[in-house]
Amino acid sequence: MSKPQVLMPTPMMDLIVDQLDEAFTLHKLWEAADPEAEIAALADRIDAVATGGKRPVDAELMRRLPNLKIVANFGVGYDSVDAAWAGEHDIYVTNTPDVLTEEVADTTLGLLLMTVRQLSETERYLRAGRWVKEGPFPLTRQTLRERKVGILGLGRIGKAVATRLEAFGCEIAYHGRRKQEDVSYRYYADLREMAGDVDILISVAPGGPETHHMISTEVLNALGPDGIVINVGRGTVIDEAALIAALREERIFSAGLDVFEKEPEVPAELIAMERVVLLPHVGSASIHTRGLMGQLLVDNLKQFFETGKPITPVAETPLR
Ligand code: NAP
Ligand code: 8YV
Repeated sequence: MSKPQVLMPTPMMDLIVDQLDEAFTLHKLWEAADPEAEIAALADRIDAVATGGKRPVDAELMRRLPNLKIVANFGVGYDSVDAAWAGEHDIYVTNTPDVLTEEVADTTLGLLLMTVRQLSETERYLRAGRWVKEGPFPLTRQTLRERKVGILGLGRIGKAVATRLEAFGCEIAYHGRRKQEDVSYRYYADLREMAGDVDILISVAPGGPETHHMISTEVLNALGPDGIVINVGRGTVIDEAALIAALREERIFSAGLDVFEKEPEVPAELIAMERVVLLPHVGSASIHTRGLMGQLLVDNLKQFFETGKPITPVAETPLR
């Protein structure tokens, strides 16, 4: 029997490529001289797409692959895949939940502490020899002591962040599309109202049209001049231009960002801001966790072609 054929539009980690190469017929699109002609030539042979999100798997691409059965996404966030269209056309989409939750929550707390206590700035101060020349770094205006934190997106990662924040003694609130009955933190149906009541707003919400620019000028103004925004969800959730203006005009105090609207591009104005902490989307980026994510992607494809059911299908394509 011939092996299922998998299209990989952009390079992925060796762990994934090697295993898919062995189990399936793998087409590495980036190696083709003319990728578009390659898609046209392979179109009706492709059973699966393995994607790391660098090239969107949109309706236009999926429409060109008439025998496509499954799209396996590297990452829990799958906003670069049109999962709704896939679901409507009986195409599974899988992601890599759970295996990265604790790692991303750890990174979030690191980013939070770096931002609140201006730790990147203090390190630059030391390395520039300013401690010796100018004396101690000035006391920071912000602290995590007695702070209220609002979480936008209290899902798997949001809850792991909240557990850590409880240990830090913070008061926690959250906003999502609905109140979670088994959660004791205060729920806000309105994001702006929550921003008005907390000191720090942490976003762990997914990307996509529903959450686009949810953190708007109004939300930032409600957070206020001592407010801090942390984003580890998706860059598109914050109106980046509005954020830059709010920081420039000191309508909020600072921001800690692991994700951006147009990655890997980061606006020069943000880079120039001393107080703001900027990370290059490293939430899950340890060898340990990326390895688990890669293995889950491979296992989803293998199980699907063995049993017809993947391990972690997304909500738009539930197990039927
Ligand atoms: P999850 O368990 O699905 O949680 C997502 C949460 O967002 C849910 O609690 C959901 O609550 C809320 N949400 C969804 N749509 C919303 C909307 N329109 N308005 C308000 N809240 C909304 O996902 P997860 O595993 O925690 O991952 C969350 C996100 O983190 C991913 O989608 C990804 O974008 C991001 N992420 C980033 C990194 C990184 O490296 N920086 C790593 C992993 C994940 P309701 O259903 O109650 O609305
Ligand atoms: C990955 C992420 O770095 O899981 C996610 O949603 O954002 C990260 O864990 C990313 O998806 C890999 O491209």
